[in-house]
Amino acid sequence: MNIEELINKLDFDTKARLLTGAGALTTYGCEAFGIPELHLSDGPHGIRRLIKHPNKAYEQVCNIKGGDVCFPTASALGSSWNRDMVKQVGRAIALDCKEEGIEMLLSPGVNMKRTPLCGRNFEYYSEDPYLSGELGAAFIEGVEEEGIATSLKHFAANNQEIWRSFINVEIDERSLREYYLRPFEIAVKKGKPASVMCAYNKLGGIWCSENKWLLEDLLRKEWGFEGIIVSDWYAVHSPSKALFAGIDLQMPKNEHMASHLQEGIKRGIITEKDMDRALKRLIPFFMKYQAGESCSGLEETRQPAQSETIKISIGQSMRNCYDRNEQHELAKAAALESITLLKNHGDILPIQANKYKKIVVFGIFANEPVIMGGGSSKVTVEEASVEKPLNCIKAIAGEDMEVIYEPLYPLALKGLAMDRKIEEMAKEADISLVFMANEEETETEGIDRKRLAFSDYMNDATDIITAICRHTVVIMQTGACTAPSSWKDRAEAIIQMWLGGEGGGSAIAKVLFGLYNPSGKLSETFVLNIREDLDYPSDGVKIWYKEGMFSGYRYYDTNNQDVWYPFGHGLSYTTFEYSQLSVTPEYSEDNKQTVIVSLKVKNTGTVAGSEVVQLYVGKQDSIVLRPLKTLEAFEKAGLLPGEEKEIKFELSWRAFSYYNPYLKEWHVESGEYQIMAAASSADIRLKGKYIVNWEKDYTRYSDRSAIIL
Ligand code: BGC
Repeated sequence: MNIEELINKLDFDTKARLLTGAGALTTYGCEAFGIPELHLSDGPHGIRRLIKHPNKAYEQVCNIKGGDVCFPTASALGSSWNRDMVKQVGRAIALDCKEEGIEMLLSPGVNMKRTPLCGRNFEYYSEDPYLSGELGAAFIEGVEEEGIATSLKHFAANNQEIWRSFINVEIDERSLREYYLRPFEIAVKKGKPASVMCAYNKLGGIWCSENKWLLEDLLRKEWGFEGIIVSDWYAVHSPSKALFAGIDLQMPKNEHMASHLQEGIKRGIITEKDMDRALKRLIPFFMKYQAGESCSGLEETRQPAQSETIKISIGQSMRNCYDRNEQHELAKAAALESITLLKNHGDILPIQANKYKKIVVFGIFANEPVIMGGGSSKVTVEEASVEKPLNCIKAIAGEDMEVIYEPLYPLALKGLAMDRKIEEMAKEADISLVFMANEEETETEGIDRKRLAFSDYMNDATDIITAICRHTVVIMQTGACTAPSSWKDRAEAIIQMWLGGEGGGSAIAKVLFGLYNPSGKLSETFVLNIREDLDYPSDGVKIWYKEGMFSGYRYYDTNNQDVWYPFGHGLSYTTFEYSQLSVTPEYSEDNKQTVIVSLKVKNTGTVAGSEVVQLYVGKQDSIVLRPLKTLEAFEKAGLLPGEEKEIKFELSWRAFSYYNPYLKEWHVESGEYQIMAAASSADIRLKGKYIVNWEKDYTRYSDRSAIIL
């Protein structure tokens, strides 16, 4: 029986049931026709397995001893700039899925960070579309290679949590494509996710779940996406309109799906053929992923008994080789790669026994670390698996150094007495390590942060410590930029630890003591203030992205605005020298030319380290409005002391293009492009140029000095 024959045998009710969930995180299985049920789970940095109990609400459960593995969240992974590491994390989460009997993982998220206040920024990789798209693709590859389906989300322009289910995003098409859609385009084309999840908001006046232009014309036809489209949970307003627009699976369970669709047919919104079209994608998808391997053909996977056997045997073989300790080690390695050293004045780090005898650790987060954010991405991890920075610091300090701990909390103790205590301790310390974090549940889905700064209490305590102690290191356990107070200049070292997952404790200790040389670079600009020109949080009805594509460093760079730390910034305990940039070809009469950029990078210090080399492209004399520069390639290179490596980048013609909505194409202007090899968006080390001059460029004569032929 082929898929058409199978669909023809299904009655209307069964078809309707297949087009929606069977529960919160399950799809409808129809044994009579060999259509399996799938189990879904969030999310981006580990598993959240929900089970419905009779008479009870959904409960988070876990099969794995030690709990599901909690990896660093996406904003941390984004700062690793390491495709391979992100791919490995994806693969590891897929292994957890197999252990938990989950076939579809609801991640990754590649939305852009329009405001640092968005409560879900910790779930997204970066403010840069290229970095997000590349890492999203790597994650997808890692998961899907293990036979688990991914869901790239939230498509599109879901850039704030407040009013996410109500607002209409208004933005010009060029900015939409170049900034907000680009990470999706890269991840879809490169990673080939099994599914894409639509966003809650409206785009251009139409709910993303009903936006035919977005789902069919762009995603399917233009980008060639071949998977299924799933709605975000409760994002569907009209089941018929959503089906018509291209949504295949409407989540979670809609009890009234059949009557809704019948009504839709009666009103002429859809025909039964629209249901069949979605089922033609959905049924093979269920079969493919239930079997946990590539869909070799409907004939083989159709029988329920056979599918069940396949599933059991995969589960068993996985169980034999599944090693939670290995997963934990990977979580640690990922945390290590993500930690970003922002400041190290006078090289006070790393901590060495000959420099410091007494270490005072301040802040409860040293003992009770914030390892992830709140909402649907919460991982079912057991406390015993979570490494505490304090214990790890003590273990490395050993007998050589004394480690004293002051939690600074509970808040009940605050006041003059507490201030005195802090002063006393800070005075005695050779070095203070202050752990800061956002208050519980401020970095979470569904709401945005109300302020950019840490809480006053936390800032006040850190201000006191940095004013008194000889040497202070501030360690920030946050998933997004959180602004400092006056301690920013007094703290000699500042580390962005991110939300580091269960292995973050030992990772931060290793970085502090120099057992690992930090190699993270900021995946988002660390700002001191919130921009006042943004239409945010809006009136709850419509929001106008009038800043267009000028978000993050695209805005700060172009407008020469000061920031706390720029995009791409991150220090190391060693130094790197860049040399010999070459661009090939330097001149081309072809607008679709691939350009090879090569350069050398050398570790000029005394310890091994890794450098993230960033390649930006700019065009100063552009006829259209452009950011000063945009990231178009990057590579992370590990180098021993004195070692030099050649880094080669391949820039496709798209790296030089902008989207012209009138021509409806990605257009490469003739003229000169600046190519910049950089250690951060503000630290350009080498410059080169590339000139394009193509005969048929309809925009080439529009400059002032042009002769019209
Ligand atoms: C979130 C999605 C998540 C889904 C299922 C929604 O509220 O926006 O990211 O995958 O719930 O938990």
